Amino acid sequence: MELYKGSVFNNADLDDEHTRILNNLDQFKNCVNDIYFSPKLAAALLAALLSNLDEHFRHEETLMNETRYSHAESHTMEHENLMTTARELSKGFLSGPSQIEGGIVYDFLNEWLINHSVRADCVVGNYFQAHQERPTQDNVPDQVYAFALQA
Ligand SMILES: [Fe+2]
Ligand SMILES: [Fe+2]
Repeated sequence: MELYKGSVFNNADLDDEHTRILNNLDQFKNCVNDIYFSPKLAAALLAALLSNLDEHFRHEETLMNETRYSHAESHTMEHENLMTTARELSKGFLSGPSQIEGGIVYDFLNEWLINHSVRADCVVGNYFQAHQERPTQDNVPDQVYAFALQA
């Protein structure tokens, strides 16, 4: 899970969101494995995890759209599919919270996040970085900008 932590995006806010999600997931796993399992705590941790995931996905999607990332649609679809499945799993877990059910929810989310991070987020992270480095009207030297206007 280390790949989901740390710098995937070269963007401090997005990387911090990944770290927060990972911490949520670790807390949920620890709760589910605790011999004094608390269904109430597990439900609260799962709700926080889903809420942070939802917020993070919207942030990523906004940046993809703002920078006109060409795979924004398929990447967004992956987020939506995950949220649909995660909400269903969460509903199932909350209807009769058990450590076994919690483990199933954890395994699914953990695997999905690793896979998505390595395959999709790393790619969009490189794109964001390249996009930031591309000269814009604001950071092109004045002479170059003046020349471009004359051309
Ligand atoms: Fe992400
Ligand atoms: Fe993503």
